[in-house]
Amino acid sequence: MKNLQNQNVLSINRLSPRSIVIPASEKDIFYSNKERSDRIIMLTGEWDFKYCDGEWGTLTVPSMWQFHGYGTPRYTNADYIFPFNPPYVGTNNPVGHYKRGFNVKKKSKRMILHFDGVDSAFYVYINGKEVGMSKGSRLASEFDIAEYVNEGENLIEVDVYTFCDGSYLESQDMILGSGIFRDVFIILADEVSLWDYTVFPTLNSVSVRCKFDYDGQEGYTAVAEIDGQRISKKLTASDQTFDFTISEPRLWNAETPNLYTLILTLKRGNKVIEVNSKKIGLRTVGTKKNHIFCINGVPVKLKGVNRHEHLPDNGRAIDYETTRAELLLLKRHNVNAIRCSHYPNAPFFYELANELGFYVMDEADLETHGCGITGDQGYLSKTPSWLNAYLDREIRMYERDKNETCIVIWSLGNESGSGENLVKCAEYFRGVDIKKPILYPQDDGQDPKFTDFRQCGYNYPEFMDIRHYETGPWFKGGDTPVVMTEYAHSMGNSPGGLSEYWDRVYLYDDMAGGFVWEFKNLGIKRGEDYCYGNDFGECNHSLNFNLDGLCISDGTPKPSMIELREVLAPTQVKYENGIVLKNTNSFRNLSYLTLKWELLENFRVIDKGVIDSVDLPAGRTAVLDLPYTMPECISAGKKYFVNLTFLDGEALVSQKQVALPYGSAKRKFINENFDCEYENGTVRAKDFSVSFKDGVIASLTKNGKSIIDSKMQFSFYRKPTDNDGIKGKKETITSTWEKSLLSEFCFFPEEEEVEKGDGCLKIIYKGKILPEGKFVGYFTKITYKIYKGGIISVDIHATPYGNMPSILPRIGVVFEMNKSFDKALWFGRGEHENYSDRIASANYGLYELPVEKMSFMYDRPQENGNREDTYFAALTDKDSGLLVLGAEQFSFTAQDYSMKALCAAEHISELKKADKNYFYINYKMRGIGSASCGVNPKPAYELNPHEFEFAFVLKPYEGIEDAEAMHSLDFGIRSKRFTTEYEYTPIHTVRENFESRD
Ligand code: GAL
Ligand code: MG
Repeated sequence: MKNLQNQNVLSINRLSPRSIVIPASEKDIFYSNKERSDRIIMLTGEWDFKYCDGEWGTLTVPSMWQFHGYGTPRYTNADYIFPFNPPYVGTNNPVGHYKRGFNVKKKSKRMILHFDGVDSAFYVYINGKEVGMSKGSRLASEFDIAEYVNEGENLIEVDVYTFCDGSYLESQDMILGSGIFRDVFIILADEVSLWDYTVFPTLNSVSVRCKFDYDGQEGYTAVAEIDGQRISKKLTASDQTFDFTISEPRLWNAETPNLYTLILTLKRGNKVIEVNSKKIGLRTVGTKKNHIFCINGVPVKLKGVNRHEHLPDNGRAIDYETTRAELLLLKRHNVNAIRCSHYPNAPFFYELANELGFYVMDEADLETHGCGITGDQGYLSKTPSWLNAYLDREIRMYERDKNETCIVIWSLGNESGSGENLVKCAEYFRGVDIKKPILYPQDDGQDPKFTDFRQCGYNYPEFMDIRHYETGPWFKGGDTPVVMTEYAHSMGNSPGGLSEYWDRVYLYDDMAGGFVWEFKNLGIKRGEDYCYGNDFGECNHSLNFNLDGLCISDGTPKPSMIELREVLAPTQVKYENGIVLKNTNSFRNLSYLTLKWELLENFRVIDKGVIDSVDLPAGRTAVLDLPYTMPECISAGKKYFVNLTFLDGEALVSQKQVALPYGSAKRKFINENFDCEYENGTVRAKDFSVSFKDGVIASLTKNGKSIIDSKMQFSFYRKPTDNDGIKGKKETITSTWEKSLLSEFCFFPEEEEVEKGDGCLKIIYKGKILPEGKFVGYFTKITYKIYKGGIISVDIHATPYGNMPSILPRIGVVFEMNKSFDKALWFGRGEHENYSDRIASANYGLYELPVEKMSFMYDRPQENGNREDTYFAALTDKDSGLLVLGAEQFSFTAQDYSMKALCAAEHISELKKADKNYFYINYKMRGIGSASCGVNPKPAYELNPHEFEFAFVLKPYEGIEDAEAMHSLDFGIRSKRFTTEYEYTPIHTVRENFESRD
């Protein structure tokens, strides 16, 4: 235990760090298929396992034991989960005892036991003898066990400790789990073998410096091969260099990840001793004019995400197949960069990133966020006795990963404050052979020694407009590229505003792009649910802050991932005197893409065509000359759109839409006379009846069929998104919602007027919308006009008073509908969920979905399912339903659970479905933003209280043709905003203002 709480003992008998070396007797054996090598003895699979003093059972390696019934996973964002007293970690330090047998047919000179990741520290024993110890959870550790091993059966035992002094440097925001969570294997090396190598690529050459385990033995030859060339050298010293010139080089970049296989063979006479294979690319990393980030000398934007390694049922013990699937998913969403937040990943990750094409920021396994409790996150970064522990982590990352083509940035670690130890780490990277730009996320311009980037995280997009060198804390110092190391925090229903960032990244040369926080929710699986802090009875936790990815925990993309796909797409489109296409690729002409285009009148395709290959060089912009024919006469009230679907083979790259600037005003609705009676709040006509109760519509029946059967309610609330306020944590805005009982706002009429006019019956209610017992609400006037056939126009004019929250979630109404109306149909944005600040991917169209599919279930259920900018929407059964036509575009939501049920559900399985469907018609819905760790929606997408008129038409649904025809009519009502800012106003002034406008 002594060694485990001493930052000066980093290991015992651990070999010096080096590249991953996988010898084999044939070519094309890499890390990812190492099982095929006859020089590798895999030690993955079932081990005997004992947790502390418990009984022996079994546990699969790799895994994290807390996910398999031993202890529970923990989640804290920053706090250490042991008493803070460096280097001591307290007395509650569970040990996992592992043991298993392994068979050795024939001993070799060196037998290197290799661990890719053990959290947090371990001792290893072979046949009862201690071999060594290592710390550094996400780093490789190797021991030569040849002298401990016998031919035949052997026993390996590993004792893994939950915590050690190293845990102070592993305070990353993630699920805390322990055990042997990456591969373990033995490498058999002969008398002479390749120990390490360094690849120096340029744009037309490769030089490989090899270090052999060699003591002057006679008769050995080393052969290096690449691109059909072969250099053979008699081994005379342990260091040998092979220089190749590559003619007609195929360069590597994320768009065309060309790789060459480097093969290093050791021979004695004609006998092959071992073969080592490694795929490498030719590429350079650097800057142009100091501030433009370049790959191969060409400016590149990092379209990135932060990614943790995580499986909901196995923690960081992620497998190759899942990793591959995740990377392919990212590729399909036009992501080209990954930050290994916040530690070096499993070695197969880099092989995949090389092959699939990702720019990688490799990050050292170093974070001391938890030291923040001392008042200085950099407490240990300033403590000299921890310097070696810091350097150990940098050196081991560099040595292991130096040959990975995909890595374009070395990151020193995350959130460790500032201090001399970090300066020394940066100096280390300045001195290594494989130099790359370096970054440290907290070098916020205060100490530019650290970094080759100016950077920022979680800022307003407008920060890019303010020239950075000036006053802001983010941008002091040098003229370097700027990178958003973390931005657009994707917690829960989030983020909004992605296109605002990317409009600017594309605009400014020095913006090198950025990495969304983060790829996937880090939920912990329990039944159908994904758990988070506080779900395991912990004394300290960080709630659901682990659910902050672009995918939910099971890997399903959130709607915001589709948005990301569109803003990152190589095909950016806008309408500016024509359809303008920009190729945001750095290298590839868009000729690999097919474009399918369609001209739409409203939602009907009236012309279409295909361009087999879009010829546009990288970085260029051109007007797309599509041969579509507009109709001879532009119909009243119709909209015209062009849909552009870009495909790479069969695979969707992006779906863009432009609205054409054609259109003519709607036709005036002509009301026809009809017979009706009005009595006691009920209007009866030949084929319909509609009733009012308490100033709101309470029923609508058409031809004997009930369409509306309960009171229209006002809806000024939504279940807070995590950006509105994390329940139990950051609740500044939402607490004002709770305080003013926003969810209980209800209309109370004071006056009623009924007027029978030509072709319509007009009913007006004046009163207030307010909750019980609070001085807050709206002066309200609702005007209903009832027309022939059961068409009802609704015009709600309201002005706020009293203690209104300064930000509102929603302003609208909701209909509780019979369950049989279970299909949503709409002409507006879709098909997936969208909000005012997340519409780049939500094209206009006619969409139809079952109500149950209208929701997106976030791991912690919350506001979801909005559809913005709707022209009309209906909730229907087979042949009837309720149609809503906006005077202006509105947003709507259809849900098969009540607001109360949604509010009560903290996990998916707790959400109780209703025997009703809920149809929300919103005048406005607050945007999304990313304020759970970032910024609120921009003012344009913010919702502040103001005086408004919200107008729409309700009618029985009578088919899509009817809906479309009705949509082209002007009912003479408007939705509008009268005031901008809300200021607390005494009640009599509000009344005077309101009444004077009437
Ligand atoms: C960042 C940090 C991440 C994560 C994020 C919030 O500042 O680097 O690890 O904690 O905040 O989700
Ligand atoms: Mg942190």
